Amino acid sequence: MRFSSRQIHAGVTPDPVTGSILTPIYQTTAYVQDSVDEYMAKGYSYSRSGNPTVRALELRIADLEGGADCTCYATGMAAINCVLTAFLNAGDHAVLSDVIYGGTYRLCNQIFARFGVEFSFVDTSDADNVRRSLRPNTKLIVTETPGNPTLKLTDIRAVSDIARAAGIPHAVDNTFLTPYFQRPLELGADLVIHSTTKYFDGHNATVGGAVVARTAEQDEALRFVQNASGIIMSPQVAWLTLQGSKTLSVRMDRQSETALRIATFLTDHPAVERVGYPGLKSFPQHELAVSQASGFGAMVWFEVAGGVRSGKALMDSLELWSLAESLGSVESLVTHPASMTHSDVEPEQRARAGITDGLVRLSVGLEDADDLIDALRDALDALD
Ligand SMILES: Cc1ncc(COP(=O)(O)O)c(C=O)c1O
Repeated sequence: MRFSSRQIHAGVTPDPVTGSILTPIYQTTAYVQDSVDEYMAKGYSYSRSGNPTVRALELRIADLEGGADCTCYATGMAAINCVLTAFLNAGDHAVLSDVIYGGTYRLCNQIFARFGVEFSFVDTSDADNVRRSLRPNTKLIVTETPGNPTLKLTDIRAVSDIARAAGIPHAVDNTFLTPYFQRPLELGADLVIHSTTKYFDGHNATVGGAVVARTAEQDEALRFVQNASGIIMSPQVAWLTLQGSKTLSVRMDRQSETALRIATFLTDHPAVERVGYPGLKSFPQHELAVSQASGFGAMVWFEVAGGVRSGKALMDSLELWSLAESLGSVESLVTHPASMTHSDVEPEQRARAGITDGLVRLSVGLEDADDLIDALRDALDALD
């Protein structure tokens, strides 16, 4: 089956007891066993170790990414936490993209570093930088592409080749494009990370995360940490995410179509100095975007003339767009990365990664494109 059919049907079958077309929310702690000898015969023992509603979502996301299996988590950060815990030990080193969600940077530098793990944040848009950063104790490569918030791209195939040659896994945070537009495992990656909070849910209703593994052994390693540390997704979150994911392709198509219109509008507006969107021919890595993904996504950034002061004035006055963290939902959002999503990244590191204080990030939703453009035009025209 093709993607749009699988996003509705993968992982779910009518409820065996009632025929309910939707997988029920299995709101339970424990599962009664028929006998001691038949322990786990039905596949479940305790909801930290497995829950049928969560399992349905895991099977769906594994199917959509083309992996051996998937584990779901309380949040996207819990998913990343699990990857780091499962594949790194004290004294190990990991290489990560320098343009990466601020929470990932914080988790590495402020928590895992305390346990003796070393990290290098490098410009992974040049695969040679990754190769040069490898050390004898490097055990993991994590890239985020497009990277949050500048949308810098990493050549997934090139970095996966380097990881394979080094005998270590390459994990890709695919939150921004989803498997509808980009499937890292097909390009050679080993693990795919998602904040399901974003496009998989799509309705600003839940926080959740997922990791898809290429092999059953990698999935086992993740599942062990997931259960042992208790960083699981709840059945209500899984149920809502199962419903949201049924429209993933339709939302992604429409939101990215609107994003291209908005990026083009911004490029033409005299108050705008720079625009970043992989779908624009002017985007430095436009060719790579075309070659490794089938769509450009719905994230756009820009900088206005007048720098930080004007950027903040614009974000404060913008109608229709909500000033909020997060991304990927039907509601359009505007975010100031320097003071919101990336505030825990030191100013010098932000500057090195090109995350300027004047950068305005847009998450384009499902409202009428003309209304979104009108609102931006009003706010831009009002800047002095
Ligand atoms: C690319 C990316 N990965 C991971 C996360 C973390 O996800 P969560 O907020 O669900 O913990 C975010 C959050 O914004 C993100 O943008």
